[in-house]
Amino acid sequence: MFDVTSIRSQFPALGRIDDGLPAAYLDGPGGTQTPQRVIDAMSTALSEGVSNLGGGFPPSDLAGDITEGARRAMADLYNCHPGEVVFGQNMTSLTFALSHALAATWQEGDAIVLTDIDHDANFTPWARAADERGVDVRVARFDPETGLLDPTSVTELIDEKVRLVAVAYSSNALGTVVDLEPIVEAAHSTGALVFVDAVHAGPHHLVDVQELGCDFLASAVYKFFGPHTGVLYGRADLLASLDAYKVRPAPSDPPGKWETGTQSYESLAGVTAAVDYVASLGSSGNTRRESLADAYREIEQHERSLGERFISGVHEISGAKLWGVQQMSRQRCATFAVTIDGASPKDVTAHLASRSIYAWAGHYYAVNLMERLGVLDKGGLVRIGFVHYNTAEEVDRCMEALAEI
Ligand SMILES: Cc1ncc(COP(=O)(O)O)c(C=O)c1O
Repeated sequence: MFDVTSIRSQFPALGRIDDGLPAAYLDGPGGTQTPQRVIDAMSTALSEGVSNLGGGFPPSDLAGDITEGARRAMADLYNCHPGEVVFGQNMTSLTFALSHALAATWQEGDAIVLTDIDHDANFTPWARAADERGVDVRVARFDPETGLLDPTSVTELIDEKVRLVAVAYSSNALGTVVDLEPIVEAAHSTGALVFVDAVHAGPHHLVDVQELGCDFLASAVYKFFGPHTGVLYGRADLLASLDAYKVRPAPSDPPGKWETGTQSYESLAGVTAAVDYVASLGSSGNTRRESLADAYREIEQHERSLGERFISGVHEISGAKLWGVQQMSRQRCATFAVTIDGASPKDVTAHLASRSIYAWAGHYYAVNLMERLGVLDKGGLVRIGFVHYNTAEEVDRCMEALAEI
């Protein structure tokens, strides 16, 4: 049974009071808050004593155990092998690192396919690498009217010259969910690899790399109730065969060869705790993966009802515009971009903040998307996002504050 009150009581930050009002965190797309078990796991790792890997004494062994535990947790979350999980500072740095390694296999005359619905972290690393190698960049365009990325707009750009297709699982700006199946199928039919940016999917959807059939998938744990750590899934054979940019004494086998320098072990302890936290929201299955699947079903249902409440509320406010997909469906999650006639996005979020409601204004690094929507130089859009710990009351408070504007 999904009990939001008991869920919220696990998050110390959700008890925050600002100016006498309970804080409403509607900034989940920029990063979520963490439950006490994540905070405890991180502080326990530090207070127990954690040393660097490979020392052969207990605090060093702890670093190894924490790392392996976090790989198993992420493998359960993504349905892959623990050896296919690479950790790094954040999604952006992991993507830059992989882009160098992949680009080394490209030749002049090759091409890659990117999209304009993507966050810039799934655009610029690839575009720069392509530029350095004389590789053509083809950009699939989303529909600014509907907010959808028609898979055909991607697949029609794929031919035998294409080496990589980099595409979002979902948009961090409009909340659009991309239909990846035809894209992966078309890419693989001509031998191109597929890299999926699943950062925005983390808090909303159960990711299954086997089902997606992608070759790489990157994410960030701070978007799903954990610490500020990036994660990269890579198909085992590719992680093994590609030449990682690494220092000579570092491991030569994956996943270690992809993990530059010393990892944040306290964060990795938090990664496991974050996955266990999400799993705890589902009924206890035979495996952690089963519990995770159940948890995401509950999460989706709760977010869907918040999203429906939000959409019908926004449609009632005169002068308010909801951008992108206009109803809750498989094509969107509960991340919303809105504008209010006569008020800049910054004015809107400042007003919300004056009511202790935290939301974002701007482009949130989705710069190509904002440009297509014609709002890049107009202060972007207001982003209001809901995750499973948000409530119907918070939706209503947000509506009241928007109506005041
Ligand atoms: C969809 C998406 N991709 C990539 C990123 C970049 O993630 P990171 O901050 O871990 O580099 C973000 C961050 O907001 C994002 O929302």
